[in-house]
Amino acid sequence: PDEPLVLGIETSCDETGVGIVRGQTLLADAVASSVDEHARFGGVVPEVASRAHLEAMVPTIQRACDTAGVRLADVDAIAVTHGPGLAGALLVGVASAKALALSLGKPIYGVNHLAAHVAVDQLEHGPLPEPCLALLVSGGHSSLLKVTDITTGVDPMGATIDDAAGEAFDKVARLLGLPFPGGPHIDRAARDGNKVAIDFPRGLTSRRDLERHRFDYSFSGLKTAVARWVEARERSGEPVPVADVAASFQEAVCDVLVRKALDAASAEGIEDLMIGGGVAANSRLRVLAEERAGRLGIRVRVPRPGLCTDNGAMVAALGSAMVARNRQPSPLDLPADSSLPV
Ligand code: KG4
Ligand code: ZN
Repeated sequence: PDEPLVLGIETSCDETGVGIVRGQTLLADAVASSVDEHARFGGVVPEVASRAHLEAMVPTIQRACDTAGVRLADVDAIAVTHGPGLAGALLVGVASAKALALSLGKPIYGVNHLAAHVAVDQLEHGPLPEPCLALLVSGGHSSLLKVTDITTGVDPMGATIDDAAGEAFDKVARLLGLPFPGGPHIDRAARDGNKVAIDFPRGLTSRRDLERHRFDYSFSGLKTAVARWVEARERSGEPVPVADVAASFQEAVCDVLVRKALDAASAEGIEDLMIGGGVAANSRLRVLAEERAGRLGIRVRVPRPGLCTDNGAMVAALGSAMVARNRQPSPLDLPADSSLPV
């Protein structure tokens, strides 16, 4: 028989994503983003995001079906992100998914946003090795996850104790007068800069910190260090070398991200590192991970940038894995849970 056709809905932050997969084959990945509406506030405004999801939902579902060349009636199961994320934003996706499941008479699968960021890699690189280690870095999260079963066994080994890595990129970009979201702009500016020009701190890497926070991250001290450095420069009347600051800051983030991820993989005897989330699009992070992992005999998997940022295909991919492994569907009163743990 044909593999199941699964439609996935993602609304946890500012992207309305609808993806369609058959088995682990990607058929459509429609995304409508409200990021431009948030740009002038310098961050995502929850109410603005919820309203944008409401407006974009039906057209985005339509666009995904058109691209995949399927009708809603052909869909075998609906998957939806039910957490973690912005409460009001999640509600739009969950309510839409329930309405589809009920009206089509098909099962609904609530999926975890973080696990979906990992599962998406299967659409590009084939079955995920289990166990593998996932480094998830986005505007909302920075986590190290040990994955023994993508549908049931995703266990956090560490996480940021303050800002997420993407948040640090966005805040530093703002300091440097670069637009929101800042990650891609820092990445670009850094290409012309010297990454060893300024020695910015690597959070939670002192011997004492490693005792309690071996696999945790911290980026707020780094952000403050960049702010102080830039202020001192401005006070001295000298121009701020934006490219050097961007490159040195980016190096501090990527260095510690990769160092701890590979340390965790080695500690667990894991030979595959998956990197996901919006920050995985960072060019330096990809190069550094490949370089250092290669020396340890660890393989690195990073989905293409369009699959790293929030999208519906990742939700469909995880939902499809749940169908394939005969997991129980969710009840139709599935709640949205803004702080859903992995
Ligand atoms: O996964 P994502 O689209 O949304 C969240 O769930 O947060 O991640 C967005 C984050 C933003 O903070 C953005 O600045 C960052 O990913 N980002 C990058 C790059 N592209 C996006 N950070 C560093 N380098 C990039 N090339
Ligand atoms: Zn995300």
